[in-house]
Formats: sequence, structure tokens, C-alpha cells
Amino acid sequence: MITLGIETSCDETSCAVLENGNCIRSNVISSSLSKHKPFGGVVPEIASRHCLEAIDAVFRAALRQATISESEIGLIAVTRGPGLIGSLLVGVSFAKALAFAWKKPLVGVHHLWAHLFGNFIAREKPAKPFVGLIVSGGHTTVAWIDGFHFEELGSTIDDAIGEAYDKTAKILGLGYPGGPAIDRLAQKGDSKAFTFTKPKIDGAFDMSFSGIKTAVLHIVNGYGEMGYKKSKWKRNQISDLCASFQSAVTDWVIEKTMLACEKKKSRVVAVGGGVSANSRLRSVLADECKLRGYDLYLPPLELTLDNGAMVARMGYELYRRGVRSSLDMTADSSPAFDFIDSACGA
Ligand code: KG4
Ligand code: ZN
Repeated sequence: MITLGIETSCDETSCAVLENGNCIRSNVISSSLSKHKPFGGVVPEIASRHCLEAIDAVFRAALRQATISESEIGLIAVTRGPGLIGSLLVGVSFAKALAFAWKKPLVGVHHLWAHLFGNFIAREKPAKPFVGLIVSGGHTTVAWIDGFHFEELGSTIDDAIGEAYDKTAKILGLGYPGGPAIDRLAQKGDSKAFTFTKPKIDGAFDMSFSGIKTAVLHIVNGYGEMGYKKSKWKRNQISDLCASFQSAVTDWVIEKTMLACEKKKSRVVAVGGGVSANSRLRSVLADECKLRGYDLYLPPLELTLDNGAMVARMGYELYRRGVRSSLDMTADSSPAFDFIDSACGA
């Protein structure tokens, strides 16, 4: 069974060809990242225009690299949300046109489910049940996934963790996207140089990341505990701040994930989203899971950012369970978490 996976939820345009849910024949990604850099964040209009301009070439490249013809495709899977509506519409319209013209089955996919299921590409069956940690530029969620059931245990009440990385990097003049830049500098810094207070929140599994960005701003402006003036900063002081920031935010999400495992008596954790590329998150989570005897699924680095392969994997799983979307399916910037509803919503 050959699945074509199409992903256009934000600034990436990606098409992938997946064989039997576990063999990636191609995974072509075109990013509009460089066009957003001058603005310090994703500009929705630029992202959707890029998707529109890139989708046809990306699709053809994916078929070429996989050395397959149109007639060999058995299923078309596409992200229908969450994401930027202009970008989503490009992928969904493209997928529906292909499904109509080729008379092939179509399945709509929830983007966050897809991030988690990207972990199971090398496996015949997804792990179940498991605690899922979704950490991206738009979402920070801890969930319990049991078969088709997605229970959101907690999520950020303000900024997403990736957003906190991006905003902090902007304050520090490190450019966009901030995650990789902070991660690089953090590896050379002292994580104990600055202390950040853990936010107090009502929900046991909820998180907050907007306060730490403001704390960084105060430090940079010279009002913080260390009283540094930005002009007098040396490179190693910025590395120390990056290391302290990184240590704090990764500890917070790891703590909630471990708490979720205890509550649900789960011994399996799967992580997804752009921030799953973070070196400290990966290594500390691996240590914590090893200590407790938990199985940990982390996506390979090339699958941490948005990609069509994870969408194909998720679509394949839905298809195997009899789910089909109709041509009435629409893009949805915030679809239901429900496995079936998010695939079929019209
Ligand atoms: O999942 P993603 O591609 O976008 C959304 O769907 O939102 O994730 C992008 C986010 C950005 O905020 C970026 O700064 C962050 O992932 N990111 C990282 C790293 N690499 C990317 N954050 C921390 N450490 C990294 N190594
Ligand atoms: Zn994503």
C-alpha cells in the first residue's frame, strides 16, 4: 500500500511517499523559513503564498524520488488542521483535487496526532496506550493516547514552548527561529547562572511560558538580579542565559510528562513537534525514562519539523481502521482532537 502524505499547516510544504506505513520512499520539504526571518516570526500571508507556489513542484519531486507513478498511489492523506488556515487550504484543496481526479481514497489528518505518529514509522503498529508530549512553535500539550482516544491532560495557558524560544531569541538578538540558536549557545553555557521561577498554575498538567520571556527581558535590560547591561554583555553571559532558560523550560515539560505517566500508570512516552529536536529535552528525557524503565519514542531529527511522512503514517493508520474522508472535508484551523472527527470533519 502506497500512501501520499501532504503537509501544509504552517511554513513548510511537504509531500511524502510511504510504503506500508513503515518505509519512507521520499519525504520532500520546501520551507519558507528564510522569507520570515526579517519579520522575526511566521507571516501567515507569506507562508500560504509559499505553499501555493511550492506544492506542485514538491509533489512531483516526491513521486520522482520515490520512483513511483500516480497509478501506484493507494491513499492520499492530508493535514486538515490545526494550523494557519491559508496554508492548510492549499494542501487540502490539492489533496481533494488528486483524490477526485484519480478516484483514490482520501483521509484528513490531525497535525498533532501526526507529530506523535511520526515516531511509529519504523514499526508495524503504533505504541498504545502512551503519554504524548507535543512541543512545537504553536502547541505545548501533554496527552494520554489510548487507541483512538486522545485525552488532553494539560497544555500551555499562554505561549507555546517553541514560541518562548523564538521570543527569547529575538530579545537576545539571535534571529529566527530561536530554538536551534538558543540550543547551540546553551550547550556552552552554565545552566545555574540564572534562576527562573517555575510558574504557579491551577491545572496539574498546565504550563506557562510567557513569564520566562519577560524575565529574560528584565535581565537583558539590566533590571534583573544580575544587573547586567546589554552593552557590556560578553558572549559567555548570553550562553549562560540561554543555558539557564533552556534548562528551566525543558525541566518544566519533562516534569509534567513524568507526572502524567504516574497518573496514568503509563510506561511509554512519545514526543513530537519542532522542539523535540532540542538536545537537552532529548537527553534529559532519555535519562528520566531510563531511570524509571519507560519506553521513549523520539522522532529522528529529520522528522522533528513538519513533514509529509508523519501525515502519511497517521493517514495509513486511520485507513487501516476503516476511516475515509469525503470530498466535503474542509481545512480546519483547530479541529477536534477526536481521532475520527478530526479526519472526517466537513
Ligand atoms: O513543529 P514546528 O515545525 O512548528 C509548528 O508546528 O509550530 O516547530 C517549530 C518550532 C520553532 O519555535 C523552533 O524555534 C523550535 O520548533 N525548534 C527548537 C529547536 N529546533 C526547532 N526549539 C528548541 N530547540 C531546538 N533545537
Ligand atoms: Zn508541527
